[in-house]
Amino acid sequence: MRIGLLGTGPWADRAHAPALSRHPELDFAGVWGRRPDAAAELAGRHGTRAYADVDALLADVDAVAVALPPAVQAPLAVRAARAGRHLLLDKPLAVTPEEGRAVTAAVRESGVASVVFFTARFHPGTEAWIGEQAERGDWFTARAQWLGSVFSGDSPYAASPWRREKGALWDVGPHALSVLLPVLGDVRRVAAATHGPGDTVHAVLDHAGGASSVLTLSLTAPPAAAGVAVELRGEAGVTLLPEGAEGPVPALVRAADALLTAVRSGRPHPCDAGFGLRVTEILAAVQARLDGDRGEDGTPGRGTPAAVRSADPAAGPTAHRAG
Ligand SMILES: NC(=O)c1ccc[n+]([C@@H]2O[C@H](COP(=O)([O-])OP(=O)(O)OC[C@H]3O[C@@H](n4cnc5c(N)ncnc54)[C@H](OP(=O)(O)O)[C@@H]3O)[C@@H](O)[C@H]2O)c1
Repeated sequence: MRIGLLGTGPWADRAHAPALSRHPELDFAGVWGRRPDAAAELAGRHGTRAYADVDALLADVDAVAVALPPAVQAPLAVRAARAGRHLLLDKPLAVTPEEGRAVTAAVRESGVASVVFFTARFHPGTEAWIGEQAERGDWFTARAQWLGSVFSGDSPYAASPWRREKGALWDVGPHALSVLLPVLGDVRRVAAATHGPGDTVHAVLDHAGGASSVLTLSLTAPPAAAGVAVELRGEAGVTLLPEGAEGPVPALVRAADALLTAVRSGRPHPCDAGFGLRVTEILAAVQARLDGDRGEDGTPGRGTPAAVRSADPAAGPTAHRAG
């Protein structure tokens, strides 16, 4: 399968380009980026060619991999699907349900295959754990903490404008949902959502299987507090998501395998564009709750403190000191 890469940013460089050039069944046919010099540099390092025109690249391939901000990815995915190209997309599929639905409609109408790279779903250890917990069922509650420290230190993602604008909900929220949904079922209701420090978001979800989950998502955690933890509690006891033991490239090679299998079998992968759309719809529902949680001055998270104010102004530290 001849595949082209759209994007020349940090993730294209660290994950997509190495995975496409390493994959034994892919012919890495070219790179397109909005900066021709960046496309030429990345293509040169992987022995492929740079394209100045995205449609010229689409004309030469069977599939595209996309490593671009979601608001750029979605319309390009529509364009590629309409040209009959299979899609290896990245999370989040889109940042509005409308843009996500345009992708799924184009995929359906063109009959192309799609896979969205939800990383945890392509690490064998984490995917096996997800499958086992889905099989067990009877979960009572879950917590998923996805905490990054992206805008401090030397993170390659520090200069990413869309991450600054959309925050942790849209960057790491997709990862948390990609683990929880197959285990606990679809989200029936976003029961609550509020802002924490920085871009931190807390959300409480009500799942179709009857369990609740609590998400804590951040890109602005102190470096020492960063990390990922998913814990499930239920009839079977307590279990923790194992750590992915390898970097992103082998996982992305497996995502490309999954795309090839979907193309050959005609059967959609569980992480196809339809699943990507569902994740976007749930994140949009959390965003709507957050947007409702604003104070009179419009700042996030200022709408709730009144609810926890003490009814008795005499109570508290001053009253105790006086006593
Ligand atoms: N699955 C995972 O674990 C994982 C991990 C990291 C990233 N990702 C995903 O991968 C995607 C890319 O992320 P990233 O870290 O490389 O950073 P990014 O901030 O999304 O930037 C990627 C590239 O997009 C280009 N770009 C921005 N706006 C554009 C536009 N309007 N038209 C054309 N190109 C545009 C930028 O080009 P310039 O260089 O010219 O500015 C930049 O090189 C994101 O969707 C992210 O969620 C997934």
